[in-house]
Amino acid sequence: MSAVQPTDPSHLPLPPGPSLAESYRLLKMSPPEALLKLAKDYGDVVRWRTPLNTIYCLNHPEHVRQVLTQSYPRYTKDTIDYRVVGRTLGRGLVTNEGADWAKQRRLMQPVFANRSIDKFDVVINEMTTQLSEAWARRRPDETVWLDREMSRVTFQVVSRTLFGTAIDDAADEMVEILEIVNQHPLKLTSLMTLIPWLPVPSNRRFARIKARLDAMVDGLVEQRRASGDSSRNDILDRLLAARDQDTGEGMDREQMRDELITLLLAGHETSATALVWTYHLLGQHPEVEARLVEELRSELGGRAATSADLPRLPYLKMVVQEAMRLYPPVWGIARRSNEEAEFGGYRVPAGSYISISMYALQRHPEYWPDPDRFDPERFDPKRNEQRHSYCYIPFSAGPRACIGAGMAMLEIQLVLAQLLQRFVVRPVPGFAVIPQAVVTFKTRAGMPVTITPR
Ligand code: HEM
Repeated sequence: MSAVQPTDPSHLPLPPGPSLAESYRLLKMSPPEALLKLAKDYGDVVRWRTPLNTIYCLNHPEHVRQVLTQSYPRYTKDTIDYRVVGRTLGRGLVTNEGADWAKQRRLMQPVFANRSIDKFDVVINEMTTQLSEAWARRRPDETVWLDREMSRVTFQVVSRTLFGTAIDDAADEMVEILEIVNQHPLKLTSLMTLIPWLPVPSNRRFARIKARLDAMVDGLVEQRRASGDSSRNDILDRLLAARDQDTGEGMDREQMRDELITLLLAGHETSATALVWTYHLLGQHPEVEARLVEELRSELGGRAATSADLPRLPYLKMVVQEAMRLYPPVWGIARRSNEEAEFGGYRVPAGSYISISMYALQRHPEYWPDPDRFDPERFDPKRNEQRHSYCYIPFSAGPRACIGAGMAMLEIQLVLAQLLQRFVVRPVPGFAVIPQAVVTFKTRAGMPVTITPR
């Protein structure tokens, strides 16, 4: 009989983790905080038993690389979280799997290539100028909900880049619908959400709203197809023209709808969240804000930035990167392993739930000294080279990394470049900003601010 290979995981111990009583206590914390505490208390590989399932929490960049890149086909999205969001996103890129996902990703990748999205600077600046004009009309002592303002502008940007001006008439209704749809995963605690055919009111309401959203998106696609006009060069035009390189086929109606709804949702709250947390951190660090405004003023002299300006605004990028390190808009992702595997000398059985928390990883003290401190200098390009590339993954990594990362970075930087030059945004004193982790990492009761011309 052959000797047991030392690499055979079946003989390794299971990872350490909290007792059942401690696990219950952790459930009272927000998930990102709980996962950070687990990493601090038990290390980079932790086994967390909860009443619903056992989660294997990975917090070492090499293990993250193993799951997201090296062995990625062994880790699927067959988890509760994706099942819930899948009710809205269908077979769109975020929730699709296997060969079908690979085909769609190939089809859509060129649409999001840097040279294609750079041209969206015009739309981003136009939408930001509209917001800026509305801000200029506000009274200086007026309380403004920054989270809502940022959500509105990022929705306008993503919907305009997808559909062009065709969306304008439907925009208000669509915002309302997306808000309801976004709240749906919050009802996870009721568990009813997981059994969509149960005729409880929340499921009936969701079905009604989702049908309306589908009809609106189908309508916009049909209108475009019928017009025969493919000269607008928005994302819809490009998706309609996209053909599979092997079969020459385009997308069918349902697939097109799922992709468009996915892009609307994936590309909207995420960028808004990044903007809100960046403002929050700037409000607490006036010295960083002063240096940033100085960079913007000397390079742009008050005008909006274009894509071509960004290489001359290094500090702007560093500030955004550092804000997304401390408050990653997507705070964590889940996977399910379909094979037994070894992580750091521990065994993780086949069929396990795996959790990767950007929040915990990006505060790992071994890679981020004094991890809770806001310090954009960490992202000085020379220092970036020295760091393990998998300890900073706000857009995830590997084949399933965010397809919209370039567009999001462009948008966040251009919005800030314009608004920071014109306005001083300050938190309303005494208001406690409490993070709340839903799908994105938001603030529980929003972010009230005052806005004055700079
Ligand atoms: C700051 C803004 C954003 C952040 C932090 C972010 C983050 C992420 C992350 C972490 C994933 C991986 C999710 C997973 O594994 O389940 C992802 C996937 C994705 N994101 Fe983003 N995203 C942002 C903006 C955008 C934008 C603007 C778009 C498009 C308009 C977009 C479209 C997508 C899509 C389609 C996927 C699925 C990719 C695939 O699996 O092939 N995201 N994003």
